[in-house]
Amino acid sequence: MNSPASSESSATPSEGTHKLWGGRFASGPHPLLTAVNRSIGTDFRLWPHDVRLSRAWALALRDAGVFSAEECDAVRAGLDRVGERLAAGETPVDTDEDIHTMIDRLLHEEAGAPASRLHTGRSRNDQVATATRLWTMQACTMLDAAIGELQQSLYAQAEQLQDAVLPAYTHLQRAQPVSGAHWLLSHFWALDRDRGRLAAASLGAGVMPLGSGAIAGSAFPVSRELLRSELGFHTISQNSIDATGDRDFVAETLFTCALTAAHCSRLAEDLIVYGSSEFGFVKFGDRFSTGSSMMPQKRNPDVFELARGSGGRLLGDLVSMLATLKGLPSGYSKDLQDDKRALFNAVDMLLLVLPAMAGAIAELQFNRERMRAAVTGAMMATDLADYLVRKGASFREAHGAVGRLVRESEDANVELNELPLSQVRAAHPLFGEDVMDALSIEASLAVRNVEGGTGRDAVTQQLQHAQNRMHRSAQ
Ligand code: ARG
Repeated sequence: MNSPASSESSATPSEGTHKLWGGRFASGPHPLLTAVNRSIGTDFRLWPHDVRLSRAWALALRDAGVFSAEECDAVRAGLDRVGERLAAGETPVDTDEDIHTMIDRLLHEEAGAPASRLHTGRSRNDQVATATRLWTMQACTMLDAAIGELQQSLYAQAEQLQDAVLPAYTHLQRAQPVSGAHWLLSHFWALDRDRGRLAAASLGAGVMPLGSGAIAGSAFPVSRELLRSELGFHTISQNSIDATGDRDFVAETLFTCALTAAHCSRLAEDLIVYGSSEFGFVKFGDRFSTGSSMMPQKRNPDVFELARGSGGRLLGDLVSMLATLKGLPSGYSKDLQDDKRALFNAVDMLLLVLPAMAGAIAELQFNRERMRAAVTGAMMATDLADYLVRKGASFREAHGAVGRLVRESEDANVELNELPLSQVRAAHPLFGEDVMDALSIEASLAVRNVEGGTGRDAVTQQLQHAQNRMHRSAQ
């Protein structure tokens, strides 16, 4: 099915079609088979990579003695013209089953007879795996840049919010006061890990299957090392059966995308909640807000909601890929054709969501007064317990004493810091005159200068580390 000679003879002259297989069948395919089998609607975008790997393959065939130097040049020049036609908008014809078939057809038009020999020793099985890996490596680079932009946007806002204070929440209940920069940067680091995973996914994709043929390896002595260096892979696959059926790199990329989307979704969720009238910490910029067709007052955070929604769709892509893989026997099966649907969908979606998030975050307006006003006295309860610990109490004992004070303040319907000093001091003998100082927001932040804490110096250091990470070269 893969020999170019048979591809020529397999074309049914009466239909004038160009196919890569079919010689062994008495009749042409049923239209229903053609309809379900056709993948060019999805894989068309692989064309630059398929052209590129075909150019490299022509060189390898020359080295292996299959092509003369002239034939090799003719095929490579023909492929250049095919690339130009595709770049100029050449569209598939009905009989182009997939992008590999289409390029083969165009190459016959451009280079004539030698084109029939290009498919020597290769199969669409190693071809599509190679092209998809090349596409994936490029996608990882683009995703890395897009995540970097989002980090940049978060960083710029964080820099402005160093002195702003807001509650940090656990269980979505007010927990402890933190610097605004600290909260925003918490999302920065999740994205930093995503970039690390992307680099690993790209490395996983960087193993070259070309030369594996359909499953048993090419029967012609092509230099796989030459192919590897021509195409920029970092290594070559070690087993042709594995190489043609392996889509781990797709699953890994999808996992990385799904997790990045989950991180975007969590960030979006914070902003949606904090942007509600009830919180009022942040206002969405005009250019990134939508209105309601009915309620004139509405300012909706659609970008963040769509980002949150896309997290579910990306998870679906990952699950569909893993479900496909788990049932397959070794080697290539046609199920694998749909790897690209999931992969392209996930990458496309993220490349829409990430820049939109970056843009919307750049235009957020934070309301420092509202943020600070949400910090209540009770949120310094831990600081009060820590005060007792510093004076020599055990934390358990301190926790008990402060807990009672919290209850008393709730019963009296006042904030913890509004209780009379005498009442506070009565709660534990180690409470001194200076106890109220421990109840200030500033004091709560100031003592948290441990690395990774929300104290001023720690946050300054964190911002510095974040900047260093942004400017590192992709790992
Ligand atoms: N369009 C196919 C795919 O994406 C190319 C590989 C076809 N191989 C085959 N044995 N029919 O997987």
